[in-house]
Amino acid sequence: MQAYSRETGLVLTSYGTLGSPGRSSVANEQGCVIPSVLTNPVVVFMAQALGRTPAQVMLRYFVQQGIGVIPKSVTPARIQENSQLFGWSLSEACMAALRSLDKGEAGRSFNFSSRRGFELHPEYPFPCTPHTR
Ligand SMILES: NC(=O)c1ccc[n+]([C@@H]2O[C@H](COP(=O)([O-])OP(=O)(O)OC[C@H]3O[C@@H](n4cnc5c(N)ncnc54)[C@H](OP(=O)(O)O)[C@@H]3O)[C@@H](O)[C@H]2O)c1
Repeated sequence: MQAYSRETGLVLTSYGTLGSPGRSSVANEQGCVIPSVLTNPVVVFMAQALGRTPAQVMLRYFVQQGIGVIPKSVTPARIQENSQLFGWSLSEACMAALRSLDKGEAGRSFNFSSRRGFELHPEYPFPCTPHTR
């Protein structure tokens, strides 16, 4: 999808760049586990080494690839933190380390698994069926 967007000039937007932690409690009630991006040891280690926050590392990772980010926060200090993504960058080694965390399809949490029956629709877009983890 990234290659296609580059070729066509479309700009991709990352949806739950911080892992959408606000969904965790509801997901847990439904037997799903949303992976915690902001406490991932690699992300936390990198943030500490760079003097940044885990959220900034994740947001910068996408911005540095030309992907837009729309982090949600109701917390003024976090909104400010989340906007401080420029004037510094992640090294290629950091980018590669973050890329290696990609779990592919197994890491997809936006799959409408809470909406029973969605997977039966002929245009259900994901290769996996909704599941609980
Ligand atoms: N998830 C959905 O179903 C859904 C539906 C429609 C639209 N959207 C849109 O998609 C975008 C992404 O929203 P999202 O909530 O799904 O995912 P997200 O941006 O990955 O995560 C937002 C959550 O992260 C917390 N957060 C924000 N900045 C943080 C920081 N610096 N450090 C630690 N925690 C931080 C927020 O808490 P606080 O707010 O308490 O600070 C909030 O709980 C938003 O623009 C939203 O409007 C989402």
